[in-house]
Amino acid sequence: MGLSVNIDHVATVREARKENFPDPVYAAVEAELGGADGITVHLRADRRHINERDLTVLRQVVKTDLNLEMAATAEMAGIASDVKPDRVTLVPEAPGEVTTQGGLDLVNLKQDLKLFISDLRRSTMRVGIFIDPDMGQIKEAVRVGAQYIEINTNEYTKARNVREETIRLARVAKAARREGLGVHAGHGIDYKNIVPLLNISEITSYSIGFAIVARALFVGMRQAVSEMVGIIKGAR
Ligand code: PXP
Repeated sequence: MGLSVNIDHVATVREARKENFPDPVYAAVEAELGGADGITVHLRADRRHINERDLTVLRQVVKTDLNLEMAATAEMAGIASDVKPDRVTLVPEAPGEVTTQGGLDLVNLKQDLKLFISDLRRSTMRVGIFIDPDMGQIKEAVRVGAQYIEINTNEYTKARNVREETIRLARVAKAARREGLGVHAGHGIDYKNIVPLLNISEITSYSIGFAIVARALFVGMRQAVSEMVGIIKGAR
């Protein structure tokens, strides 16, 4: 069971003042010292937080598992092939969105990702796709050659009926495992709402950003990560 810490928001603070601090690279080191199993960054087309310099230095510094979230564009494929993160998670990206809005809709996507993914995989990267918890999306993820999915937990984290949403996520996670996919989860997960998810044994990794960075403001990154690691490990 792993935790990949998304450090985009550290870069968001830096970019608010166009300064060279706080440095997401420093945040990554602190996160690893706090027990993170991986570091996630999203390189957006508008470079609103993470930029190429961050990615390049992170590649040199991160000792765990570097996950690059990116849109399925030729520009990003070129960057990924050069930098060679440990894995790439494909996400949808809309200009001006505050955060990723929903999973990549593989069922209705005009672009066939099969070739795009096989090219990325040739650069010795694992490739996954961020999808909504939907059986149709799983079938497509398998067809296009993804190795894992990250299930979008946003609706779950907003749900009134947590039990119902947890059951839905568990069903999708089990189906994905049966199809041979790795199963991760992320978006909107915090120190409380993660607890029911920890019962879904098929989910082997959590991608968490905002809640950890927000807590880090008060207790520091290392401690904020270590608290989340404690919750995740405590469930096993
Ligand atoms: N997974 C994906 C695909 C995301 O786009 C994000 C947000 O950047 C996260 C996980 C982390 O979400 P949060 O910041 O709400 O923990």
